[in-house]
Amino acid sequence: MGKHRIIGLCGVLALFLLGGVSSVIAAVSGQCSNCHTMHNSQNNSSLVSVDGAKWVNGTITGGSGSGVQRQLLVTDCVGCHSNAGTETILRVGSSVIPIVYNTGGYPDKPLAGGNFALVPGDDSKGHNVLGIANPDSKIAYAPGGKYNGERIGCASNSCHNSLAVVLTGGREGGCKGCHNRVKHHGVDPAPGTPENAASGWYRFLGNHDITLGGGSVVGIEDTDWEYTKSATDHNVYRGGTALYEDVEAMSRFCAGCHGLFHANTAGADENALGFDNSAATDGMGSPWLRHPADFAIPNKGEYAQVLGVDYNPDVPVAKPNLASYDAGVVQLGDMVMCLSCHRAHGSNYSDMLRWDYTTMTAHGYAGDQTTGCFYCHRTKDT
Ligand code: HEC
Ligand code: HEC
Ligand code: HEC
Ligand code: HEC
Ligand code: HEC
Ligand code: HEC
Repeated sequence: MGKHRIIGLCGVLALFLLGGVSSVIAAVSGQCSNCHTMHNSQNNSSLVSVDGAKWVNGTITGGSGSGVQRQLLVTDCVGCHSNAGTETILRVGSSVIPIVYNTGGYPDKPLAGGNFALVPGDDSKGHNVLGIANPDSKIAYAPGGKYNGERIGCASNSCHNSLAVVLTGGREGGCKGCHNRVKHHGVDPAPGTPENAASGWYRFLGNHDITLGGGSVVGIEDTDWEYTKSATDHNVYRGGTALYEDVEAMSRFCAGCHGLFHANTAGADENALGFDNSAATDGMGSPWLRHPADFAIPNKGEYAQVLGVDYNPDVPVAKPNLASYDAGVVQLGDMVMCLSCHRAHGSNYSDMLRWDYTTMTAHGYAGDQTTGCFYCHRTKDT
């Protein structure tokens, strides 16, 4: 979407800027040698750098390891997506690399998922991920992920406990705990249409449970990962339709580890989990036990005031139908979801929120209707 808007606004300039470096699309670009090494040798020196590597002035450097990498890559996931500098879209030759970890501090222009920059110093600023931070000192397993006293699925050796430990038995944690549909040479869908199996699904995200079906997270990818963003220039997230097990929805993806935090239809999950399942807290409706996610913003009360306003990429809502929607406004049917309030990787606020919760003060008359809680709770700032 972003690309088309840019071209629509100022075609000549945009083509000039993008032309030389090739456009930003989901498949990688640039010379093979930017990312692969044939002999792990250049002028007799070893090239592979992992475990703490990052881009420094156009070269992967600084890792404590040089072990074998899959696909003859010069570095690991963290290494290629980390930058010692401040850029969040790094250009190396004609390769265009989205950066998720700026090692020098929180960047001015983080991408849509936020940034891991502050997690090494403060566990609450994001997901603690292998290669970036140690396991969270306060949270022993994914909150909301406890079934009958046990952690989801496996009691240990699982990324439901921590994304910051080495798993055994062929399991993969770290970045791949979430990105397990990795396909850097995938085939992009037509512009403006949802990601699919051939492209590696939305941002290479997926659950690992084949019993949930072959599908995975869908969504429409902004071409520059929301480096530039506006009401009509942004990712489009898929909202979950009625069923809890809607694997195409972003919130359902988060619920793969944080199961209880996702509102459900019939209370079935909470029954099985032994949590409060009185009739009042079952199903989708007030009174809520937890803030709803994947729940349509109703056309009533203060919520009616948000329907029809400009879409705000800083408080995104999910669209239930990616075949027919208006990206520019909040429509009837659009849903509050996990990413309405949280960043996926990390942020500069506690609980990896999108905004500073301490500034959300009720009836402060601060004119904050475009931010945070007030975006939907329109009468709480007046
Ligand atoms: C040698 C460099 C390199 C390595 C190693 C690497 N990536 Fe990437 N990755 C890239 C580049 C370049 C892109 C941008 C592709 C594009 O233009 O959309 C990218 C894109 C991505 C994206 C965004 C996809 C999208 O749809 O925009 C994700 C997610 C990702 N990588 C995850 C990973 C994970 C997980 C690993 C480890 C298994 C990994 N990467 C390893 C270079 C790398
Ligand atoms: C900007 C980084 C980047 C560039 C440039 C790049 N690759 Fe890759 N390539 C990757 C990453 C990351 C993977 C990791 C595995 C995956 O995503 O499938 C990969 C995987 C592969 C694979 C194994 C998986 C598959 O899809 O077949 C082959 C083969 C491959 N690359 C060949 C090439 C060749 C040949 C070139 C040059 C024409 C090239 N690559 C350029 C990043 C890059
Ligand atoms: C807890 C799950 C999770 C983990 C762990 C995770 N990611 Fe992501 N990542 C996501 C989600 C969700 C998105 C899409 C964010 C959006 O569109 O708002 C994303 C987006 C991305 C993108 C696209 C840029 C952006 O900000 O949208 C890249 C590149 C990426 N991830 C790489 C990585 C790498 C490298 C790691 C490991 C250091 C990693 N991710 C760890 C969930 C995760
Ligand atoms: C693969 C499992 C997994 C997935 C998927 C996942 N998380 Fe997490 N999450 C964890 C674990 C483990 C923790 C606890 C350790 C930590 O903080 O990293 C956690 C912690 C958190 C925290 C608390 C952070 C803190 O330290 O205070 C938030 C907020 C969160 N996740 C939100 C999300 C959102 C939003 C998504 C979907 C984009 C998501 N998670 C997807 C495993 C996951
Ligand atoms: C309406 C905004 C909002 C939505 C939607 C939302 N969260 Fe949160 N979340 C918060 C806030 C605010 C906190 C901080 C703690 C608090 O106030 O309860 C938080 C805290 C968390 C924590 C940390 C809990 C702990 O024990 O420390 C996790 C994990 C989390 N959220 C995951 C999710 C997931 C997964 C979803 C979607 C299923 C989601 N959140 C949807 C606002 C939201
Ligand atoms: C993207 C829209 C959106 C955002 C942002 C949002 N909410 Fe909500 N909130 C909703 C919706 C929708 C409901 C459910 C309304 C219903 O039950 O009819 C809700 C319900 C609530 C309720 C319960 C209301 C009731 O009638 O039971 C509270 C309290 C609440 N939200 C607080 C917050 C706080 C605090 C924040 C910021 C951390 C926040 N919300 C952010 C959309 C949002």
